[in-house]
Amino acid sequence: MILVTGGAGFIGANFVLDWLSASDEPVLNLDKLTYAGNPENLAALQGDARHVFVQGDIGDAALLPQLLAQHQPRAVVNFAAESHVDRSIHGPEDFIQTNVVGTTRLLQSVRAYWQGLGDAQRAAFRFLHVSTDEVYGSLGPGDEPNSPYSASKAASDHLVRAWHHTYGLPVLTTNCSNNYGPYHFPEKLIPLMIVNALAGKPLPVYGDGQQIRDWLYVADHCSAIRRVLQAGRVGEVYNVGGWNEKPNLEIVHTVCALLDELRPRADGQSYRSQISFVKDRPGHDRRYAIDARKIEQELGWRPTETFDTGIRKTVQWYLAHPDWVAHVQSGAYRDWVAKQYVG
Ligand code: NAD
Ligand code: DAU
Repeated sequence: MILVTGGAGFIGANFVLDWLSASDEPVLNLDKLTYAGNPENLAALQGDARHVFVQGDIGDAALLPQLLAQHQPRAVVNFAAESHVDRSIHGPEDFIQTNVVGTTRLLQSVRAYWQGLGDAQRAAFRFLHVSTDEVYGSLGPGDEPNSPYSASKAASDHLVRAWHHTYGLPVLTTNCSNNYGPYHFPEKLIPLMIVNALAGKPLPVYGDGQQIRDWLYVADHCSAIRRVLQAGRVGEVYNVGGWNEKPNLEIVHTVCALLDELRPRADGQSYRSQISFVKDRPGHDRRYAIDARKIEQELGWRPTETFDTGIRKTVQWYLAHPDWVAHVQSGAYRDWVAKQYVG
């Protein structure tokens, strides 16, 4: 069995579904079910004994030892985090609590469990920490993590490294670029543009829209994590990316073009007419990009989707899942989005 944290969120849910479609090894899925965690993402696993779901916090120092003792996982894959940069700007504390304090407590519980394993199991055990390219900052000389989100993720990366260096915990870290695909919460650029376009709402582009992100289809991130877990060298950091650097405005134009083709507006106008340039994100990083040569050369991993195939699949998925969109857009989430950068 493996323990997956945050497995009801965007990437975690894709990973759990992918894992159980490729293997019969069970998954213990620990997720707090914040606004971003959605059991509906895992509906396909209802009644499947290979998936054990527990609602709980990675920082719960009473729950973790009990779960680890009961289920005896051979590995932990840590997705659980607060993940949205804009939210971290408006309210950083949750980010510190989960990404820094929560990761620390998780590491402590896992270390105690790992130290109690027999020799062979202890040697084979892995703690894989899922992190982000944002920890490298905006890629200028000497740049550092710039947002409360990226600072909290960088802190978690350092903690994971320290638990290896100090205690010998067999850790692996992946730093991945921007993901997109099914189950992506529509507060993030690509799904927000799709759902706003279909709802006839403005498409808010921050600043001049020329900021660059490096996009990777989520299934390719999942396959990279599987590969690193299987063959990564303990203590190493692997960058994961799709060699797909694109300015935000180009992404929005591509989404509009696909919607124009697949679900044309009744008035015959392009969805591009809904684009609205709004106030920039404070401290907005100009560019992220990943050099993925290490994972490609050392572990033979390659992405299978191009941006063209991945974005088409993504738009098609959202068109086919209006109920999922309606559910995640209800309640507190909607109120929060309404307060964001308008005008
Ligand atoms: P997400 O916000 O969609 O999901 C996060 C999940 O973690 C949710 O299910 C949430 O309920 C759960 N969670 C939050 N706090 C928790 C806690 N204290 N205890 C247990 N569960 C908790 O995020 P995502 O986009 O799926 O990102 C997953 C991980 O991948 C994060 O660590 C993120 O930093 C990293 N990452 C994301 C991207 C991206 O483009 N989305 C890229 C690189 C790395
Ligand atoms: O780089 C990896 C990171 O990618 C992950 O670590 C984060 O968890 C994930 O949220 C993502 O962070 P970004 O800030 O890059 O993603 P987001 O979708 O929020 O924004 C992408 C770009 O689009 C960014 O330059 C801001 C811009 N943007 C975003 C939104 C939501 C807009 O112009 N308009 C918007 O409405």
